[in-house]
Amino acid sequence: MTNILCIGAGYVGGPTMAMIAKKCPYHRVVVVDINAARIAAWQSDQLPIYEPGLDEVVRATLNRNLFFSTEVDRHIAEADIIFVSVNTPTKTFGQGKGRAADLQYWEKTARQILENSTTPKIVVEKSTLPVRTAEAMERILNSYDKDLHFDVLSNPEFLAEGTAIRDLEEPDRVLIGARETTSGQCALQAIVDIYAQWVPRERIITTNLWSSELAKLVANAFLAQRISSINAISALCEKTEADVNEIAHAIGLDSRIGPRFLGASVGFGGSCFKKDILNLVYLCEHYGLSEVADYWAYVVKMNEYQQARFVSNMVVSMFNTVAGKRIALFGAAFKAHTSDTRESPALAVCRALLEEHAKVVISDPHALDNFHADLGAAATQVIFEPDPYTAASGAHAIAILTEWPHFTDLDYKAIYQSMVKPAFIFDGRNILDHQRLFKIGFNVYAIGKPARVHFDEVSSTKLLDRVQINLEE
Ligand code: NAD
Ligand code: UGA
Repeated sequence: MTNILCIGAGYVGGPTMAMIAKKCPYHRVVVVDINAARIAAWQSDQLPIYEPGLDEVVRATLNRNLFFSTEVDRHIAEADIIFVSVNTPTKTFGQGKGRAADLQYWEKTARQILENSTTPKIVVEKSTLPVRTAEAMERILNSYDKDLHFDVLSNPEFLAEGTAIRDLEEPDRVLIGARETTSGQCALQAIVDIYAQWVPRERIITTNLWSSELAKLVANAFLAQRISSINAISALCEKTEADVNEIAHAIGLDSRIGPRFLGASVGFGGSCFKKDILNLVYLCEHYGLSEVADYWAYVVKMNEYQQARFVSNMVVSMFNTVAGKRIALFGAAFKAHTSDTRESPALAVCRALLEEHAKVVISDPHALDNFHADLGAAATQVIFEPDPYTAASGAHAIAILTEWPHFTDLDYKAIYQSMVKPAFIFDGRNILDHQRLFKIGFNVYAIGKPARVHFDEVSSTKLLDRVQINLEE
């Protein structure tokens, strides 16, 4: 039996360790966190995160060979392998503010591992980190003469929220980076052996440490770049009567391009794309590669432009004012099938509409509590309404911000009847039947498609040009 510990019981630590516990019943897996409420939730019937299929995996393993605890020090002492899955947000202060990764939680963990270890350990970076962080980790761990050996490995996580269980069960690949020393390769084999219990060996890729760390940042940058690319084209489609879905289909059939991550939208959200690209930008600047930094920075800039453009389009289409108008936002989560609202486009849209003095009501099946918390003080100005019919009643407009399937199946005829006329729908996810909605009576605006309106549209070109892109420095 191997004692596996994971420090950090968040969106990655919890599901990842539950899957390891399920697939390796003879290993003991403990997940620790400083957040006692989170640990209590993992031990309860109401898990701290909503993720399809997660309940079953946790239920099958909890208190069998999966344990959650707040006793970080004790479990460090007992562990053979330690995965570190703490948060690595963007720095909000000091050097690299707004771009570099804030490594304070990471470094604290390293010191805690050192203090509480009496046996050699394999320490695995699960968090997403700047390239060469493992070197810093090694230096901290080996800075005292404890006569202990620590191998530091990189094993970045590629799961996406909403599909985490499927991604963990059948990953495209598992990536493990290690030092090319005898001891490093021995540690690498121990981690390979864990994943090999259920992942085909050819999908377990091993590399040097730095390639593994950097590949994670690059994977997210490439995925986000595809979304920004198609979103850039969506703006051109709206000017030219081309249809972005038709374009995505046409180019996606080219096997060199492929069909995935070409869904034009109100912009990408989530805790990682923006953070990881900004981190990549910071690294490039650090190494004096300003052109490379600028290239990647534009992926984020384009995303901010897309969100600003969406709101500007709403205001312009609704006769240049939304002040005092009830506007129903359908979707708070940053994507469907998750309760996570971190960096959700809904937050940006909601804040911008509040600035325009709109009366915002938001509906979501799972994410209203997190949205309330993320909005902070502005939450008092927003109505939180789980029922989309009630949310839309008396509204001038609906904006679809998350692609929850149930938003597609609503009775839009009944919704139309309950709304103020002329009634508007802004489909930020292109999930609705626009022709049908237009026939019902809605004025319909979708991403990257010609608007379908029942009156002569004001020329919005001039006004849309007012959209400002304010990239934080
Ligand atoms: P999270 O904020 O949900 O969880 C991190 C947890 O670590 C928190 O519960 C926090 O209390 C805990 N923590 C912080 N310092 C600690 C300490 N010293 N001791 C014990 N616990 C501590 O974050 P997350 O979404 O799980 O992301 C974790 C890492 O994984 C990040 O680097 C992220 O970039 C990366 N990642 C996230 C996803 C995702 O889908 N969320 C996917 C792939 C990679
Ligand atoms: C993303 C990556 O897909 C994961 O591989 C990675 O592990 C993870 O980031 C991470 O490092 O945190 P996630 O953010 O959970 O996963 O979800 P995605 O499916 O990638 O969606 C991200 C955002 O892009 C969402 O807001 C989604 O709605 C948007 N999106 C996605 C689009 O706008 N269009 C698309 O075609 C696809």
